[in-house]
Amino acid sequence: MSHQFVHGFSSLTQEITCDRLPVKGSVPEWLSGSLLRNGPAQFEVGPHQFRHWFDGLAMLHRFSFHHGEVSYANKFLQSPAYRTAKKTSKISYAEFATDPCRSIFKRVTSAFSPPLLGSNANVNISKMGESFVALTETPLPVKFDPKTLKTLGIVHHDDRLAGQHCTPHPHYDPERRAGINSITNFSAKSSYNIYAMKDGATSRNLIGSIPVKEPAYIHSFSITEQYVVLVEFPLVVNPLRMLMSGKPFIENFQWKPERGTRFFVMRKEDGRVINTYSSETFFAFHHINAFEQGDTIIVDIATFPDASVIDTFYLKKLTALNATIPCTAFSRYTLPLNGSSLTSEVITDEAIELPRINYERNNASDYQFAYGIAINKQHPDDFLNQLVKVDVRAKTARTWYEDGCYPGEPVFVAAPGARDEDEGVVLSVVLDGRKNASFLLVLDAASYTELARAEVSQHIPFGFHGIYTS
Ligand SMILES: [Fe+2]
Repeated sequence: MSHQFVHGFSSLTQEITCDRLPVKGSVPEWLSGSLLRNGPAQFEVGPHQFRHWFDGLAMLHRFSFHHGEVSYANKFLQSPAYRTAKKTSKISYAEFATDPCRSIFKRVTSAFSPPLLGSNANVNISKMGESFVALTETPLPVKFDPKTLKTLGIVHHDDRLAGQHCTPHPHYDPERRAGINSITNFSAKSSYNIYAMKDGATSRNLIGSIPVKEPAYIHSFSITEQYVVLVEFPLVVNPLRMLMSGKPFIENFQWKPERGTRFFVMRKEDGRVINTYSSETFFAFHHINAFEQGDTIIVDIATFPDASVIDTFYLKKLTALNATIPCTAFSRYTLPLNGSSLTSEVITDEAIELPRINYERNNASDYQFAYGIAINKQHPDDFLNQLVKVDVRAKTARTWYEDGCYPGEPVFVAAPGARDEDEGVVLSVVLDGRKNASFLLVLDAASYTELARAEVSQHIPFGFHGIYTS
């Protein structure tokens, strides 16, 4: 495995503001707005190490564009997890794969109290009405100012919707003017609860509920015009055992491949599950898109053969260079609305992770292009080292690769008045492992070739997701 990517897992503690980054090439004049990014940036607290990539303390980054110039700022999210870590030099809240520093006595007693949420929202960024929020898999978003990146506080929901684990990938339904998400309630009677939250509302409304004995770990889902598609992989947990286990969250889940993978299709209008399908076993973090086509539903997912990818992201494995990062497949599932057997195909032989589409125009509808990151086939013994663009109709792919560089999630931004689906740019924060510094890459989305790069004076640890706001 190449060693140059490991900088992406080293902490960045400096918070800076830079009004004008050095730019090579030319950033389109029309690009006027900000790319907001989220991700873990601090992987230890005092002498205590976080164990997993997904555990690091959240940092927000902002790249702003104006008349071809690019500015940059970064700031830690001032969550309870971050503030307490600063104050005590201890890890005080449970994360994805790291438990707080505490005595065995406290460990046992805390099993009977409601979990304390550190709201280390290091996964995604979304808009709730006019507010910008940082999200993780626990249900309390953290509001921040998109200009200053200042943390404004935790958003508390004004409802009694049960659930402890939600996806950090809510969808926006423009027709209903509402966000839609899935939250899993772990209890003696567990369920996946699909809810909607109207723009400007503070309470979530249940659309429908799917009872489940052993809930699965679910990171995202998809929507079509009329339906919600929830996919349940056989990475499951016994909720009551989890309560008593004393293990970090994800380590309570067991891979049970014999169960296969299940697709639930729920009608948004009345919350009724209109169909359930079984497929071969697979695991995924990310749905790519879904849409209705005649009397079928098409669901595109970045699939892994199993859930071992989670283990490869333990920091000890990554930084000791003894992890082989598994590749995804761009898998398309066709679900007949009037039948029970789905079919599947692989769209292209290029892998895709952290997939994005032209969301405003094509989410929940037929589409042609998806963007993502993957491992270059000529340089396979490495971390995610290339950008990919998939044409799902032609079943072809283009890539962007530069030796020693590690791109993050590509965000598509449409050009003003764009007619074509891929008319615009793709923005990606790239770690240059040779220099231990990052740059913001601007690609022409259609040709997938470089237009410009804006260089940052420091490295930006590998993040997950973000949004562009004009
Ligand atoms: Fe994600």
